[in-house]
Amino acid sequence: MKQTQMWTYIFVIFLTLQSQCSACIWLGQYNLVSAESLKWLREMDGQYPEEMKVPFPRTLYNFIGNAKVEDQVRFLVLTLDQIISLMDAREHMNSEQWNLTTVEYILQDLRRQSSELKECVAQYQKPSHMESYKKEIIRHFRTLKKSLKKEKYSTHAWEKIRRAVITHLQRMDIIANNANKSLERV
Ligand SMILES: *[C@@H]1O[C@H](CO)[C@@H](O)[C@H](O)[C@H]1NC(C)=O
Ligand SMILES: *[C@@H]1O[C@H](CO)[C@@H](O)[C@H](O)[C@H]1NC(C)=O
Repeated sequence: MKQTQMWTYIFVIFLTLQSQCSACIWLGQYNLVSAESLKWLREMDGQYPEEMKVPFPRTLYNFIGNAKVEDQVRFLVLTLDQIISLMDAREHMNSEQWNLTTVEYILQDLRRQSSELKECVAQYQKPSHMESYKKEIIRHFRTLKKSLKKEKYSTHAWEKIRRAVITHLQRMDIIANNANKSLERV
């Protein structure tokens, strides 16, 4: 009797451990998929030689770079969802500037990344407080959306968005890479 119970416990523990590992296995794939999105975004370069001032939350990225893995993955999911919502405004995109087929591919990649990483986040306890970075990233993307509207979705305004998204994806790559490495050590 007792031995059966013990084996049941061991089996349950084994399953739990295994599902925890595989839930975050996507972090090892993240960069490959991200590289594809980045390549497509770079290809849609509209020849804007001038220096553009694009708002970017650099301090926030430095902060997240030193955060716990679970917060890093939460941050990635949050930012992915914000980028998706920003780029999903295809009705406001000029098809000469944006290849809308490519935009759809990029959105598919971003959605895949978000849903895979959500499985990783799901294994962690929900934080009881509203994470400080959450407010900041939401505010940042609200600013980007407002500037699009203010500039009436002009090609110039969209070019700023393209550059901002590229910078985000580049920085997110570094975070995903470090998170993947930290998990490896556990
Ligand atoms: C992620 O970690 C796994 C081991 O857990 C490793 O094999 C893989 O190369 C890492 N991926 C990247 C992109 O660093
Ligand atoms: C848009 O991208 C698709 C897929 O990469 C390509 O087949 C198509 O020719 C492109 N369309 C334009 C207008 O460049």
